Amino acid sequence: MNVRDEGNPEPGLLLHLLLRSVLSLHLALALLGCAVANQQPRPANPIPSPRPSASTETNERSSDRIDRSTSEPYSGSLSIFEDPKREDRLQVNRVMDILGIKTGSHVADVGAGSGWFTVRAAKRVGSGGLVYAVEINSEYLKHIDKRSKDENLSNIRTILGKEDDPLLPEKSVDAVLLLKTYHEIGEPVRWLRRMRPAMREGALLGIIDRTGKGDDHGIDRDLVVKEAQRAGFVLVEQHDFVRPDEVDYFLVFHAR
Ligand SMILES: C[S@@+](CC[C@H](N)C(=O)[O-])C[C@H]1O[C@@H](n2cnc3c(N)ncnc32)[C@H](O)[C@@H]1O
Repeated sequence: MNVRDEGNPEPGLLLHLLLRSVLSLHLALALLGCAVANQQPRPANPIPSPRPSASTETNERSSDRIDRSTSEPYSGSLSIFEDPKREDRLQVNRVMDILGIKTGSHVADVGAGSGWFTVRAAKRVGSGGLVYAVEINSEYLKHIDKRSKDENLSNIRTILGKEDDPLLPEKSVDAVLLLKTYHEIGEPVRWLRRMRPAMREGALLGIIDRTGKGDDHGIDRDLVVKEAQRAGFVLVEQHDFVRPDEVDYFLVFHAR
């Protein structure tokens, strides 16, 4: 029979009370440790905040998307670009003057096609200058490579660009021309954004195109201006003298 004497607690009860006190003490020390740890100063070099996540980049890219149709890139015969009357109708020398293309300039002809503008620019800039012929059609680039050899123009470089990136080296050009090409660019705002780093201080970007709805090998000029502004370009001049070549406008931008 367990008889409890109030003055002399039994040994089992004593052991139980002792264990409880030890456990309480441990718990109190652990809590105190946490509180102290939380008051430690921040490390001198905090872990850097993470780079923009893939989803942030996707958001940036999706904000550059355009909400309109574009034309299928031309892939037919190159002879249509070589009409002998084109030089005068388009007033190509005037176009080059406006874009500041001169001896020694570095120029990009984007959507170069047969190289019609490429070879004219190459003759103007001379051996001290350079012309990049940028195309997404590798067959057209082979044609331009052969043409530059045949015409003895060693200052032409062909570049197989991406639909949304001209892949030009940084700060490589003083002038860029998109001749009847803008309406074919699938993501023009993104493309223009990626074009900017290739432009040197003061470089000009010319866009010659015809009025249209986007999918009919033409594009409204105001839309081009708005898209270029979205990508950080400022309209500095516009001309209509290119009309006789069945193109309606010539817009000139510089990078903001
Ligand atoms: C209508 S042709 C004009 C050719 C040339 N500029 C001319 O007028 O003599 C348009 C050219 O742009 C090219 N093109 C379309 N999208 C392009 C892009 N994102 N980058 C480079 N070239 C592109 C096509 O392959 C095609 O050769």
